[in-house]
Amino acid sequence: MLSLLRPLLAAGLHLLLLPPGGLCSFLRYNNGFHYQDINNGNGNGEIYFNGVRLHVESPEPSVSATRGSSVTLPCHFHYEPELTSPRRTRVKWSWLPATAAAATAPAPAPVPHQRFARETEVMVAMGNRHRSYGNFRGRVRLRRSAPGDMSLVINELQLNDTGRYRCEVIDGLEDESVTVELELRGVVFPYFSKEGRYRFNFFGAQEACQDQDATLATFEQLFTAWEEGLDWCNAGWLADGTVQYPITVPRDGCGGEDLAPGLRSYGPRHRHHHHYDAFCFSASIKGSVYFLKHPTKLNFTEALRACESDGSQIAKVGQMHAAWRLMGLDRCDAGWLADGSVRYPITKARANCGPPEPGVRNFGFPPLHLKFGVYCYR
Ligand SMILES: *[C@@H]1O[C@H](CO)[C@@H](O)[C@H](O)[C@H]1NC(C)=O
Ligand SMILES: *[C@@H]1O[C@H](CO)[C@@H](O)[C@H](O)[C@H]1NC(C)=O
Repeated sequence: MLSLLRPLLAAGLHLLLLPPGGLCSFLRYNNGFHYQDINNGNGNGEIYFNGVRLHVESPEPSVSATRGSSVTLPCHFHYEPELTSPRRTRVKWSWLPATAAAATAPAPAPVPHQRFARETEVMVAMGNRHRSYGNFRGRVRLRRSAPGDMSLVINELQLNDTGRYRCEVIDGLEDESVTVELELRGVVFPYFSKEGRYRFNFFGAQEACQDQDATLATFEQLFTAWEEGLDWCNAGWLADGTVQYPITVPRDGCGGEDLAPGLRSYGPRHRHHHHYDAFCFSASIKGSVYFLKHPTKLNFTEALRACESDGSQIAKVGQMHAAWRLMGLDRCDAGWLADGSVRYPITKARANCGPPEPGVRNFGFPPLHLKFGVYCYR
């Protein structure tokens, strides 16, 4: 499709990538062929009356990866029929972070040039030149394993790299794009403050998850966790600024018995003034979490030191959940964690190790002088 959007898109690209005159071309009409003002050509003297179409495709609409690894988001383009003379193509990868996936205000009526409004640039490339942006700088490249291969390779995946990536090919005449979802394999866990229930505003919740080597969960991540059986009757912040909770067994006090199982949503809440718990998302960790062998039980300060003496650090709650969920950590001994909580991970439920389902058991935040074991991370 020869898109009406092209001039607007072009305006959003960096000037170094613009052909002269690229800003002021509008399509006259579109009857299946591609007409364009000759003044607006690519400089090769090509006459723009042909049935050549640019196709941009991805064989995988969604890709799942692990934190810290590399991932390839596939994207290829070709022309049909093949071009007789090459066109200069530019490629732009942009990104709608999963954290922005649900608008906190009702979306405005879809106006074409707002289509990509909240996407941010990841990389732009033309010929051998390319440029990457923001947090992606130095971590991304194009695969270019074959002509037309514009697949994006992202290294050292971070928790907050999830979202919808758009591969857009622009050749001075046409622009076409395709999107690829990136998901990370991981685990969602509810988190509340030492101070008690419902103490975090949005920013406090963000920070609390980060402190536990996690990030606020997205709606999709919480939804997946609910599908996998998470049931939690306390409302928590999500990355998009909404407040929700997952219910698999409807009951009073959790939205009521009559409401179908699902995510109960309070919708967007005031990020400064409203207070809830948090849903954090943690993904695979590089190191491992282990229960420290120690002759005696420890108070919290002793626990911190004991991990240090063992050449490691006291484990964070996100690390504990990742180890439980992704590495099968199973231990029926309560131990201190970095936030001053006491927990233990059970993958095979059994007598005297808590409820009949697997899970990370949580004793909350006991007084710091009480004695338990400790989980360390190395
Ligand atoms: C994503 O996470 C990285 C590493 O934790 C951090 O440096 C970066 O600021 C985060 N980016 C956003 C948009 O939150
Ligand atoms: C833990 O025990 C040590 C003595 O081994 C003591 O000095 C420390 O104050 C105790 N910490 C807490 C939080 O009670």
